[in-house]
Amino acid sequence: MKKIIITGGAGFIGSHVVRRFVNTYPGYQIINLDNLTYAGNLANLRDIETQPNYRFVKGDITDAPFIDSLFASEQPDAIIHLAAESHVDRSISDPIDFVLTNVVGTVVLLNAARNYWQGAYDTHRFYHVSTDEVYGALGDTGMFTEDTKYDPHSPYSASKASSDHFVRAYHDTYGIDTVISNCSNNYGSHHFPEKLIPLAINNIKNNKPVPVYGKGENVRDWLWVEDHARAIDVIFHRAAAGETYNIGGHNEWKNIDLIGLLCSIMDRKLGRPAGESAQLITFVKDRAGHDLRYAIDATKLKRELGWKPSLQFEEGLEKTVDWYLANEEWLQDVTSGHYQQYYEEQYASR
Ligand code: NAD
Ligand code: TYD
Repeated sequence: MKKIIITGGAGFIGSHVVRRFVNTYPGYQIINLDNLTYAGNLANLRDIETQPNYRFVKGDITDAPFIDSLFASEQPDAIIHLAAESHVDRSISDPIDFVLTNVVGTVVLLNAARNYWQGAYDTHRFYHVSTDEVYGALGDTGMFTEDTKYDPHSPYSASKASSDHFVRAYHDTYGIDTVISNCSNNYGSHHFPEKLIPLAINNIKNNKPVPVYGKGENVRDWLWVEDHARAIDVIFHRAAAGETYNIGGHNEWKNIDLIGLLCSIMDRKLGRPAGESAQLITFVKDRAGHDLRYAIDATKLKRELGWKPSLQFEEGLEKTVDWYLANEEWLQDVTSGHYQQYYEEQYASR
């Protein structure tokens, strides 16, 4: 595999995947295709942007003529597809963008692959990065395996489920070499502060209320983003065509416990008396259709490809807090302007 288009490479997970591939495989050409929505930020890639094997192309994955001409001119060997609208709360207030980018955008890419790789599917690969949220919600027990029935509840997870179905349909119908991975919640550096962990870090730092939905009893399975990028690397290179792998951290946390841990780390880092940041915790109106619990069984990935998470959560959370405290300018840039309006709209009525 020599030339790879990574979509959504300016976003949170995409930037870690781009960095990993650019640094690990100097013989590959990595093209970062991203439309730079509110979530896309080229500052996420400052450290690798001058590497000779990296290029950025600004473009919209829903723009079929543009995607077709990109495939014709670049003739990529593979796609690693991460571009998406990714935030559940935004999908509840504005579902259409999720259908356009996540469903239509994915099909536009699949169709370009179908047209330009025709007859040579065994030497090309379409890797689709998806989420565990397609499986719906768990009760107090059980875990999602690759065989769990799809049961999405939010417009976000419904759009991702739909895109997964299209990827499988293109494999089954046209023979395209596709691979899908479904990962649990990620955390780490460069995470846009609309999501729970970076939002809480930002608010604690600024002495603002930390909004916890409902009673804070929802459970998420958290994985360090660099472990996700490493899993994508392993699966991209070693999975058989048509395969699916679940990726997860074996690391379940109730939201309220996670925020409690984060508050105690922040107290220590900011030199505050123990318990001070926890006073910012504010229970607010629950998210509509809020999935109770996600938990990934990643046994298949460990057994077949040898991947397992590298980092304990407490250590990863410390590293994450350190990164946000050391990157004040990044945080200020992404929380100025439109972010303020978003925040008002999402949280004023809660
Ligand atoms: P993100 O919102 O941080 O980044 C998405 C990127 O896609 C941005 O750079 C944005 O500019 C780009 N983009 C959006 N619409 C586009 C379009 N029409 N054309 C081109 N580029 C466009 O998302 P993320 O959290 O990094 O998630 C990346 C992928 O991983 C998504 O597919 C998501 O569903 C999946 N995923 C995320 C998580 C998580 O915890 N964040 C977990 C599992 C899977
Ligand atoms: P989020 O980071 O949005 O990820 P996802 O919804 O994809 O799991 O939310 C993680 C959990 O935190 C989820 O149960 C919703 C909850 N949450 C809050 O309690 N408060 C917040 O302000 C946000 C953004 C999320």
